[in-house]
Amino acid sequence: GTLDNFTIVIFGASSDLASRKLFPSIFQLARWGHMPESFRLIGVGRQEQSHEEFRAFVRSRLLEHSPEAAGDAARLDAFCLRLFYARVDLDDPASYEVLRDEIMREEKVGGSTCRNLMFYLSIPPSLAPAVVRNLGKAGLGGREQSCTGWRKLIAEKPYGHDLESARELNRVINEVFEENQVYRIDHYLGKEPVQNIMVFRFSNGIFEPLWNRQYIAQVQITIAEDFGIRDRGAYYEESGLLRDIIQNHGLQLLTAIAMEPPVDLSADSIRDEKAKVLRSVRHFTPDSVRESVVIGQYEGYRNEKNVAPDSKVETFAAVKFHVDNWRWSGVPFYMKAGKNLAKRVTEIVITFRCPPQNYYGPSGGAACCTPNQVVLGIQPDETVAIRFGAKRPGEQMITDPVFMKFDYRDTFQGEGLTPYHRLLLDAIEGNQMNFIRKDSVEYSWEIIDSLKNSIDGQVPEQYPVHSWGPESSRIYG
Ligand code: BG6
Repeated sequence: GTLDNFTIVIFGASSDLASRKLFPSIFQLARWGHMPESFRLIGVGRQEQSHEEFRAFVRSRLLEHSPEAAGDAARLDAFCLRLFYARVDLDDPASYEVLRDEIMREEKVGGSTCRNLMFYLSIPPSLAPAVVRNLGKAGLGGREQSCTGWRKLIAEKPYGHDLESARELNRVINEVFEENQVYRIDHYLGKEPVQNIMVFRFSNGIFEPLWNRQYIAQVQITIAEDFGIRDRGAYYEESGLLRDIIQNHGLQLLTAIAMEPPVDLSADSIRDEKAKVLRSVRHFTPDSVRESVVIGQYEGYRNEKNVAPDSKVETFAAVKFHVDNWRWSGVPFYMKAGKNLAKRVTEIVITFRCPPQNYYGPSGGAACCTPNQVVLGIQPDETVAIRFGAKRPGEQMITDPVFMKFDYRDTFQGEGLTPYHRLLLDAIEGNQMNFIRKDSVEYSWEIIDSLKNSIDGQVPEQYPVHSWGPESSRIYG
Protein backbone atom coordinates (compact mmCIF):
# COMPACT_ATOMS: atom_id res chain seq x y z
CA GLY A 1 0.00 0.00 0.00
CA THR A 2 0.90 3.65 -0.32
CA LEU A 3 1.71 4.15 3.29
CA ASP A 4 4.30 1.44 3.83
CA ASN A 5 7.01 3.20 5.68
CA PHE A 6 10.12 3.69 3.58
CA THR A 7 13.38 5.53 3.20
CA ILE A 8 14.18 7.40 0.02
CA VAL A 9 17.88 7.79 -0.74
CA ILE A 10 18.75 10.50 -3.26
CA PHE A 11 22.07 10.25 -5.06
CA GLY A 12 22.87 13.68 -6.40
CA ALA A 13 21.11 15.53 -3.58
CA SER A 14 22.78 18.79 -4.57
CA SER A 15 21.72 18.46 -8.23
CA ASP A 16 19.58 21.06 -9.89
CA LEU A 17 16.91 18.42 -10.46
CA ALA A 18 16.72 17.61 -6.75
CA SER A 19 16.29 21.27 -5.90
CA ARG A 20 13.80 22.15 -8.59
CA LYS A 21 11.74 18.97 -8.82
CA LEU A 22 12.43 16.23 -6.29
CA PHE A 23 12.36 18.09 -2.99
CA PRO A 24 9.29 20.15 -3.93
CA SER A 25 7.43 17.06 -5.16
CA ILE A 26 8.25 14.98 -2.11
CA PHE A 27 7.27 17.88 0.13
CA GLN A 28 3.97 18.19 -1.70
CA LEU A 29 3.29 14.45 -1.53
CA ALA A 30 3.90 14.58 2.22
CA ARG A 31 1.57 17.54 2.48
CA TRP A 32 -1.13 15.62 0.65
CA GLY A 33 -0.70 12.62 2.93
CA HIS A 34 0.93 10.42 0.30
CA MET A 35 4.10 9.90 2.30
CA PRO A 36 4.21 7.76 5.44
CA GLU A 37 4.44 9.79 8.67
CA SER A 38 7.92 8.62 9.53
CA PHE A 39 9.52 8.37 6.09
CA ARG A 40 13.16 9.33 5.91
CA LEU A 41 14.96 11.04 3.08
CA ILE A 42 18.70 10.53 2.97
CA GLY A 43 20.62 12.85 0.70
CA VAL A 44 23.87 11.44 -0.64
CA GLY A 45 26.75 13.56 -1.88
CA ARG A 46 30.50 13.91 -1.95
CA GLN A 47 30.88 16.89 0.28
CA GLU A 48 31.21 16.79 4.04
CA GLN A 49 27.98 18.03 5.56
CA SER A 50 26.05 17.50 8.78
CA HIS A 51 22.36 16.55 8.84
CA GLU A 52 21.67 20.06 10.05
CA GLU A 53 23.53 21.62 7.15
CA PHE A 54 21.71 19.41 4.70
CA ARG A 55 18.38 20.37 6.25
CA ALA A 56 19.26 24.03 5.93
CA PHE A 57 20.20 23.48 2.29
CA VAL A 58 16.96 21.69 1.43
CA ARG A 59 14.97 24.30 3.32
CA SER A 60 16.50 27.10 1.27
CA ARG A 61 15.85 25.17 -1.96
CA LEU A 62 12.24 24.59 -0.97
CA LEU A 63 11.69 28.21 -0.06
CA GLU A 64 12.92 29.11 -3.52
CA HIS A 65 11.20 26.43 -5.58
CA SER A 66 8.05 25.47 -3.70
CA PRO A 67 5.39 28.08 -3.00
CA GLU A 68 3.57 25.48 -0.90
CA ALA A 69 6.59 25.04 1.35
CA ALA A 70 7.19 28.76 1.58
CA GLY A 71 3.61 29.26 2.71
CA ASP A 72 3.54 26.54 5.35
CA ALA A 73 6.26 27.02 7.95
CA ALA A 74 5.00 24.37 10.37
CA ARG A 75 4.94 21.69 7.73
CA LEU A 76 8.30 22.76 6.37
CA ASP A 77 9.81 22.33 9.86
CA ALA A 78 8.27 18.90 10.24
CA PHE A 79 9.45 17.90 6.76
CA CYS A 80 13.03 18.97 7.41
CA LEU A 81 13.19 16.72 10.47
CA ARG A 82 12.74 13.75 8.11
CA LEU A 83 15.95 14.65 6.23
CA PHE A 84 19.36 13.09 6.76
CA TYR A 85 22.66 13.19 4.97
CA ALA A 86 25.34 10.65 4.12
CA ARG A 87 28.70 11.55 2.63
CA VAL A 88 29.63 8.88 0.12
CA ASP A 89 32.44 8.58 -2.42
CA LEU A 90 30.36 7.19 -5.20
CA ASP A 91 33.01 4.95 -6.65
CA ASP A 92 34.46 3.70 -3.39
CA PRO A 93 32.63 0.58 -2.15
CA ALA A 94 33.90 1.01 1.41
CA SER A 95 32.30 4.40 1.57
CA TYR A 96 28.81 2.86 1.28
CA GLU A 97 29.11 1.65 4.86
CA VAL A 98 28.27 5.20 5.88
CA LEU A 99 25.05 5.02 3.91
CA ARG A 100 24.25 1.60 5.27
CA ASP A 101 24.76 2.83 8.80
CA GLU A 102 22.58 5.82 8.16
CA ILE A 103 19.81 3.59 6.81
CA MET A 104 20.10 1.33 9.85
CA ARG A 105 20.56 4.06 12.40
CA GLU A 106 16.94 4.57 13.20
CA GLU A 107 14.02 2.23 13.14
CA LYS A 108 16.14 -0.84 12.81
CA VAL A 109 14.30 -3.85 11.51
CA GLY A 110 15.92 -6.63 13.48
CA GLY A 111 19.22 -4.82 13.13
CA SER A 112 19.36 -5.38 9.40
CA THR A 113 18.90 -3.17 6.38
CA CYS A 114 15.67 -4.98 5.53
CA ARG A 115 13.29 -2.14 5.24
CA ASN A 116 11.60 -0.49 2.33
CA LEU A 117 14.19 1.43 0.37
CA MET A 118 13.86 3.62 -2.66
CA PHE A 119 17.07 4.71 -4.35
CA TYR A 120 16.89 7.70 -6.66
CA LEU A 121 19.75 8.24 -9.10
CA SER A 122 20.01 11.87 -10.09
CA ILE A 123 23.62 11.64 -11.25
CA PRO A 124 25.51 11.64 -14.57
CA PRO A 125 25.13 8.32 -16.45
CA SER A 126 28.87 7.65 -16.25
CA LEU A 127 28.59 7.31 -12.45
CA ALA A 128 25.45 5.17 -12.39
CA PRO A 129 27.03 1.71 -12.92
CA ALA A 130 29.47 2.19 -10.04
CA VAL A 131 26.73 3.35 -7.69
CA VAL A 132 24.52 0.39 -8.50
CA ARG A 133 27.39 -2.09 -8.15
CA ASN A 134 28.36 -0.59 -4.83
CA LEU A 135 24.80 -0.70 -3.54
CA GLY A 136 24.89 -4.40 -4.36
CA LYS A 137 28.19 -4.90 -2.56
CA ALA A 138 26.87 -3.11 0.50
CA GLY A 139 23.92 -5.51 0.66
CA LEU A 140 21.48 -2.79 -0.36
CA GLY A 141 20.47 -4.29 -3.70
CA GLY A 142 17.04 -5.60 -4.59
CA ARG A 143 18.08 -9.22 -4.98
CA GLU A 144 18.99 -9.70 -1.31
CA GLN A 145 17.22 -12.96 -0.52
CA SER A 146 17.00 -12.31 3.20
CA CYS A 147 15.04 -9.11 2.89
CA THR A 148 11.35 -8.72 3.39
CA GLY A 149 11.03 -5.00 2.68
CA TRP A 150 10.78 -3.73 -0.88
CA ARG A 151 13.66 -2.19 -2.77
CA LYS A 152 13.26 0.11 -5.73
CA LEU A 153 15.64 1.93 -7.98
CA ILE A 154 14.58 5.08 -9.82
CA ALA A 155 16.96 6.08 -12.60
CA GLU A 156 16.80 9.59 -13.98
CA LYS A 157 17.78 10.40 -17.53
CA PRO A 158 20.17 10.49 -19.27
CA TYR A 159 19.97 6.73 -19.19
CA GLY A 160 23.26 5.88 -20.85
CA HIS A 161 24.96 7.83 -23.58
CA ASP A 162 24.46 5.41 -26.46
CA LEU A 163 23.35 1.83 -27.01
CA GLU A 164 26.48 0.30 -25.58
CA SER A 165 26.50 2.27 -22.34
CA ALA A 166 22.75 1.83 -21.89
CA ARG A 167 23.13 -1.94 -22.33
CA GLU A 168 25.96 -1.98 -19.84
CA LEU A 169 23.90 0.02 -17.37
CA ASN A 170 20.96 -2.34 -17.84
CA ARG A 171 23.25 -5.30 -17.30
CA VAL A 172 24.71 -3.89 -14.09
CA ILE A 173 21.31 -2.83 -12.79
CA ASN A 174 19.79 -6.21 -13.49
CA GLU A 175 22.59 -7.90 -11.54
CA VAL A 176 21.60 -5.95 -8.47
CA PHE A 177 17.87 -5.29 -9.00
CA GLU A 178 15.03 -7.21 -10.66
CA GLU A 179 13.49 -5.43 -13.64
CA ASN A 180 10.23 -5.04 -11.70
CA GLN A 181 12.13 -2.97 -9.13
CA VAL A 182 13.56 -0.57 -11.71
CA TYR A 183 11.86 2.72 -12.61
CA ARG A 184 13.47 4.57 -15.52
CA ILE A 185 12.07 8.08 -15.57
CA ASP A 186 11.08 10.09 -18.57
CA HIS A 187 9.22 12.95 -16.97
CA TYR A 188 7.22 13.55 -20.18
CA LEU A 189 5.27 10.42 -19.30
CA GLY A 190 4.11 12.14 -16.15
CA LYS A 191 2.59 15.09 -18.01
CA GLU A 192 -1.19 15.10 -17.92
CA PRO A 193 -1.70 15.79 -21.66
CA VAL A 194 0.77 13.02 -22.50
CA GLN A 195 -1.13 10.57 -20.34
CA ASN A 196 -4.22 11.76 -22.13
CA ILE A 197 -2.94 10.58 -25.53
CA MET A 198 -3.85 6.97 -24.82
CA VAL A 199 -7.19 7.98 -23.35
CA PHE A 200 -7.95 10.18 -26.34
CA ARG A 201 -7.11 7.42 -28.78
CA PHE A 202 -8.56 4.40 -27.05
CA SER A 203 -11.70 5.69 -25.41
CA ASN A 204 -13.15 7.74 -28.24
CA GLY A 205 -14.94 5.91 -31.00
CA ILE A 206 -14.81 8.81 -33.43
CA PHE A 207 -11.02 8.92 -33.66
CA GLU A 208 -9.99 5.34 -33.14
CA PRO A 209 -11.11 4.06 -36.57
CA LEU A 210 -9.26 6.86 -38.37
CA TRP A 211 -5.94 6.44 -36.59
CA ASN A 212 -3.92 4.80 -39.34
CA ARG A 213 -2.29 5.21 -42.72
CA GLN A 214 -5.61 5.14 -44.57
CA TYR A 215 -6.77 8.42 -43.06
CA ILE A 216 -3.71 10.08 -41.61
CA ALA A 217 -1.37 11.88 -44.00
CA GLN A 218 1.33 12.83 -41.52
CA VAL A 219 2.20 13.43 -37.91
CA GLN A 220 4.26 16.38 -36.67
CA ILE A 221 5.78 16.51 -33.22
CA THR A 222 7.29 19.77 -31.99
CA ILE A 223 9.27 20.26 -28.80
CA ALA A 224 10.40 23.86 -28.92
CA GLU A 225 12.04 25.82 -26.14
CA ASP A 226 12.64 29.57 -26.12
CA PHE A 227 15.75 29.38 -23.95
CA GLY A 228 19.25 28.06 -24.50
CA ILE A 229 21.29 25.48 -22.64
CA ARG A 230 21.40 27.69 -19.54
CA ASP A 231 24.48 26.75 -17.53
CA ARG A 232 24.64 23.16 -18.74
CA GLY A 233 27.44 23.64 -21.27
CA ALA A 234 29.52 20.70 -20.11
CA TYR A 235 26.52 18.37 -20.23
CA TYR A 236 25.35 19.64 -23.60
CA GLU A 237 28.75 19.22 -25.21
CA GLU A 238 28.54 15.52 -24.29
CA SER A 239 24.92 15.14 -25.11
CA GLY A 240 23.53 17.39 -27.83
CA LEU A 241 19.85 17.71 -28.55
CA LEU A 242 19.37 14.32 -30.20
CA ARG A 243 20.41 12.57 -26.99
CA ASP A 244 18.91 15.13 -24.65
CA ILE A 245 15.42 15.40 -26.12
CA ILE A 246 14.77 13.15 -29.13
CA GLN A 247 16.06 9.85 -27.71
CA ASN A 248 13.65 10.09 -24.80
CA HIS A 249 10.89 12.71 -24.81
CA GLY A 250 10.55 12.84 -28.59
CA LEU A 251 10.46 9.11 -29.19
CA GLN A 252 8.11 8.61 -26.26
CA LEU A 253 5.62 11.06 -27.76
CA LEU A 254 5.90 9.32 -31.12
CA THR A 255 5.32 5.99 -29.42
CA ALA A 256 2.19 7.18 -27.65
CA ILE A 257 0.73 8.32 -30.98
CA ALA A 258 1.73 5.20 -32.88
CA MET A 259 1.25 2.31 -30.43
CA GLU A 260 -1.36 -0.40 -30.85
CA PRO A 261 -4.09 -0.77 -28.23
CA PRO A 262 -2.66 -2.80 -25.34
CA VAL A 263 -4.24 -6.09 -24.24
CA ASP A 264 -5.08 -4.44 -20.90
CA LEU A 265 -3.79 -1.61 -18.76
CA SER A 266 -1.08 -3.54 -16.95
CA ALA A 267 2.36 -1.97 -17.08
CA ASP A 268 3.78 -4.71 -19.22
CA SER A 269 0.89 -4.86 -21.68
CA ILE A 270 1.37 -1.17 -22.34
CA ARG A 271 5.11 -1.41 -22.47
CA ASP A 272 4.94 -4.38 -24.84
CA GLU A 273 3.13 -2.17 -27.34
CA LYS A 274 5.56 0.69 -26.85
CA ALA A 275 8.52 -1.58 -27.43
CA LYS A 276 6.93 -2.80 -30.67
CA VAL A 277 6.66 0.74 -32.02
CA LEU A 278 10.29 1.48 -31.24
CA ARG A 279 11.33 -1.75 -32.95
CA SER A 280 9.41 -0.63 -36.03
CA VAL A 281 11.03 2.77 -36.34
CA ARG A 282 13.26 2.72 -39.39
CA HIS A 283 16.95 3.12 -38.69
CA PHE A 284 18.98 5.79 -40.48
CA THR A 285 21.77 5.41 -43.00
CA PRO A 286 24.19 8.00 -44.43
CA ASP A 287 21.94 8.05 -47.53
CA SER A 288 18.65 8.44 -45.72
CA VAL A 289 19.77 11.22 -43.38
CA ARG A 290 20.44 13.51 -46.34
CA GLU A 291 16.72 13.85 -46.92
CA SER A 292 15.42 13.18 -43.46
CA VAL A 293 17.57 15.01 -40.93
CA VAL A 294 18.57 18.65 -40.43
CA ILE A 295 20.67 19.60 -37.44
CA GLY A 296 21.24 23.14 -36.23
CA GLN A 297 23.07 25.13 -33.63
CA TYR A 298 21.93 28.49 -32.32
CA GLU A 299 24.14 31.47 -32.93
CA GLY A 300 26.19 32.16 -29.84
CA TYR A 301 26.15 28.58 -28.59
CA ARG A 302 29.92 28.44 -29.01
CA ASN A 303 30.33 31.37 -26.64
CA GLU A 304 28.41 29.64 -23.84
CA LYS A 305 30.33 28.61 -20.75
CA ASN A 306 32.07 25.23 -21.03
CA VAL A 307 31.38 24.98 -24.77
CA ALA A 308 34.20 24.46 -27.29
CA PRO A 309 34.76 27.47 -29.59
CA ASP A 310 34.43 25.17 -32.63
CA SER A 311 31.74 22.91 -31.18
CA LYS A 312 29.73 20.81 -33.65
CA VAL A 313 27.13 19.88 -31.09
CA GLU A 314 23.52 20.29 -32.23
CA THR A 315 20.96 22.32 -30.28
CA PHE A 316 18.25 21.73 -32.88
CA ALA A 317 17.11 18.78 -34.94
CA ALA A 318 14.38 18.17 -37.48
CA VAL A 319 13.92 14.51 -38.27
CA LYS A 320 11.59 12.56 -40.51
CA PHE A 321 10.86 9.18 -38.94
CA HIS A 322 9.13 6.20 -40.50
CA VAL A 323 7.30 3.62 -38.49
CA ASP A 324 7.49 0.52 -40.66
CA ASN A 325 4.49 -1.46 -39.57
CA TRP A 326 1.00 -2.22 -40.88
CA ARG A 327 -0.69 0.74 -39.29
CA TRP A 328 1.79 3.42 -40.31
CA SER A 329 3.45 2.31 -43.50
CA GLY A 330 4.09 5.39 -45.65
CA VAL A 331 3.07 7.97 -43.03
CA PRO A 332 5.93 10.35 -42.17
CA PHE A 333 6.43 11.34 -38.53
CA TYR A 334 8.15 14.72 -38.54
CA MET A 335 9.85 15.76 -35.37
CA LYS A 336 11.33 19.12 -34.61
CA ALA A 337 13.01 20.08 -31.37
CA GLY A 338 15.38 22.81 -30.38
CA LYS A 339 16.78 25.27 -27.91
CA ASN A 340 16.42 29.01 -28.29
CA LEU A 341 13.54 28.79 -30.75
CA ALA A 342 10.83 31.39 -31.27
CA LYS A 343 8.62 30.13 -28.47
CA ARG A 344 8.16 27.39 -25.93
CA VAL A 345 5.65 24.95 -27.30
CA THR A 346 5.27 21.20 -27.29
CA GLU A 347 2.52 19.89 -29.52
CA ILE A 348 1.55 17.06 -31.78
CA VAL A 349 -0.33 17.72 -34.99
CA ILE A 350 -2.05 14.85 -36.74
CA THR A 351 -3.00 15.80 -40.27
CA PHE A 352 -5.69 13.80 -42.02
CA ARG A 353 -6.01 13.06 -45.69
CA CYS A 354 -8.31 15.16 -47.81
CA PRO A 355 -11.64 14.08 -49.20
CA PRO A 356 -11.32 12.78 -52.76
CA GLN A 357 -12.60 15.98 -54.37
CA ASN A 358 -12.22 19.63 -53.52
CA TYR A 359 -15.25 21.68 -54.55
CA TYR A 360 -14.56 24.71 -52.45
CA GLY A 361 -11.96 27.29 -51.79
CA PRO A 362 -10.21 30.06 -53.56
CA SER A 363 -7.51 27.77 -54.74
CA GLY A 364 -10.02 25.72 -56.76
CA GLY A 365 -8.58 22.41 -57.77
CA ALA A 366 -6.06 22.29 -54.93
CA ALA A 367 -5.93 18.88 -53.38
CA CYS A 368 -7.42 20.10 -50.15
CA CYS A 369 -8.36 23.53 -48.96
CA THR A 370 -8.43 22.75 -45.25
CA PRO A 371 -6.78 19.55 -44.16
CA ASN A 372 -8.39 18.30 -40.98
CA GLN A 373 -6.09 18.19 -38.03
CA VAL A 374 -6.11 17.02 -34.46
CA VAL A 375 -3.75 19.19 -32.47
CA LEU A 376 -2.66 17.84 -29.10
CA GLY A 377 -1.19 20.72 -27.08
CA ILE A 378 1.16 19.40 -24.42
CA GLN A 379 2.60 22.69 -23.13
CA PRO A 380 2.29 25.47 -22.27
CA ASP A 381 -1.30 25.08 -23.51
CA GLU A 382 -2.88 21.81 -22.46
CA THR A 383 -5.40 21.44 -25.20
CA VAL A 384 -6.98 19.24 -27.81
CA ALA A 385 -8.07 21.11 -30.91
CA ILE A 386 -9.74 19.87 -34.04
CA ARG A 387 -9.29 21.84 -37.21
CA PHE A 388 -11.82 21.65 -39.98
CA GLY A 389 -13.18 23.75 -42.79
CA ALA A 390 -16.29 25.92 -42.49
CA LYS A 391 -18.04 28.00 -45.08
CA ARG A 392 -17.03 31.61 -44.87
CA PRO A 393 -20.23 33.70 -44.56
CA GLY A 394 -21.01 35.57 -47.75
CA GLU A 395 -21.88 35.15 -51.36
CA GLN A 396 -19.05 32.86 -52.31
CA MET A 397 -18.57 29.23 -51.42
CA ILE A 398 -15.20 29.54 -49.71
CA THR A 399 -13.97 27.50 -46.78
CA ASP A 400 -11.96 28.82 -43.88
CA PRO A 401 -10.11 26.73 -41.32
CA VAL A 402 -11.77 26.85 -37.88
CA PHE A 403 -11.05 25.13 -34.57
CA MET A 404 -12.96 23.28 -31.91
CA LYS A 405 -10.91 23.40 -28.77
CA PHE A 406 -10.82 21.72 -25.38
CA ASP A 407 -8.59 23.32 -22.73
CA TYR A 408 -7.63 21.40 -19.61
CA ARG A 409 -7.43 24.49 -17.45
CA ASP A 410 -10.87 25.75 -18.41
CA THR A 411 -12.53 22.40 -17.89
CA PHE A 412 -10.72 20.86 -14.95
CA GLN A 413 -9.88 23.02 -11.98
CA GLY A 414 -7.88 22.31 -8.85
CA GLU A 415 -4.37 21.41 -7.98
CA GLY A 416 -3.01 19.18 -10.70
CA LEU A 417 -0.18 16.75 -10.30
CA THR A 418 3.11 17.82 -11.80
CA PRO A 419 5.04 15.08 -13.62
CA TYR A 420 7.32 14.42 -10.68
CA HIS A 421 4.43 14.13 -8.21
CA ARG A 422 2.72 11.71 -10.52
CA LEU A 423 5.76 9.57 -11.22
CA LEU A 424 7.04 9.48 -7.64
CA LEU A 425 3.60 8.43 -6.50
CA ASP A 426 3.49 5.70 -9.15
CA ALA A 427 6.90 4.46 -8.07
CA ILE A 428 5.88 4.46 -4.40
CA GLU A 429 2.78 2.49 -5.31
CA GLY A 430 4.73 0.13 -7.52
CA ASN A 431 3.10 1.03 -10.83
CA GLN A 432 5.64 0.85 -13.67
CA MET A 433 3.21 1.82 -16.43
CA ASN A 434 4.79 5.20 -17.00
CA PHE A 435 8.40 4.15 -16.71
CA ILE A 436 10.64 3.04 -19.53
CA ARG A 437 11.34 -0.65 -19.73
CA LYS A 438 14.80 -2.00 -20.39
CA ASP A 439 14.06 -3.12 -23.97
CA SER A 440 12.57 0.23 -24.97
CA VAL A 441 15.59 2.13 -23.73
CA GLU A 442 17.78 -0.02 -25.91
CA TYR A 443 15.53 0.25 -28.99
CA SER A 444 15.50 4.02 -28.62
CA TRP A 445 19.27 4.13 -28.48
CA GLU A 446 19.52 1.90 -31.56
CA ILE A 447 17.52 4.48 -33.47
CA ILE A 448 19.52 7.44 -32.17
CA ASP A 449 22.85 5.68 -32.65
CA SER A 450 21.97 4.93 -36.27
CA LEU A 451 21.12 8.60 -36.75
CA LYS A 452 24.20 9.91 -34.98
CA ASN A 453 26.52 7.54 -36.80
CA SER A 454 24.98 8.54 -40.12
CA ILE A 455 25.51 12.27 -39.57
CA ASP A 456 28.93 11.80 -38.02
CA GLY A 457 31.11 14.83 -38.68
CA GLN A 458 28.28 16.94 -40.08
CA VAL A 459 28.46 20.56 -39.01
CA PRO A 460 25.10 21.86 -37.75
CA GLU A 461 23.62 24.86 -39.54
CA GLN A 462 23.65 28.04 -37.50
CA TYR A 463 20.27 29.63 -36.75
CA PRO A 464 19.42 32.93 -35.12
CA VAL A 465 18.28 32.89 -31.52
CA HIS A 466 14.46 32.98 -31.29
CA SER A 467 13.93 31.81 -34.85
CA TRP A 468 12.34 28.52 -35.93
CA GLY A 469 15.70 26.91 -36.67
CA PRO A 470 17.71 26.58 -39.89
CA GLU A 471 15.98 27.54 -43.15
CA SER A 472 16.40 24.06 -44.54
CA SER A 473 14.26 22.56 -41.80
CA ARG A 474 11.09 24.26 -43.08
CA ILE A 475 9.84 21.12 -44.79
CA TYR A 476 9.53 19.49 -41.39
CA GLY A 477 6.51 21.58 -40.58
C1 BG6 B 1 15.03 17.71 -19.96
C2 BG6 B 1 16.14 18.19 -20.84
O1 BG6 B 1 14.95 16.31 -19.98
O2 BG6 B 1 13.80 18.23 -20.42
C3 BG6 B 1 16.17 19.70 -20.92
O3 BG6 B 1 17.37 17.71 -20.33
C4 BG6 B 1 14.81 20.24 -21.29
O4 BG6 B 1 17.15 20.12 -21.87
C5 BG6 B 1 13.72 19.64 -20.40
O5 BG6 B 1 14.83 21.64 -21.16
C6 BG6 B 1 12.35 20.03 -20.88
O6 BG6 B 1 11.39 19.64 -19.93
P1 BG6 B 1 9.99 20.38 -19.89
O7 BG6 B 1 9.18 19.56 -18.94
O8 BG6 B 1 10.25 21.76 -19.41
O9 BG6 B 1 9.47 20.36 -21.28
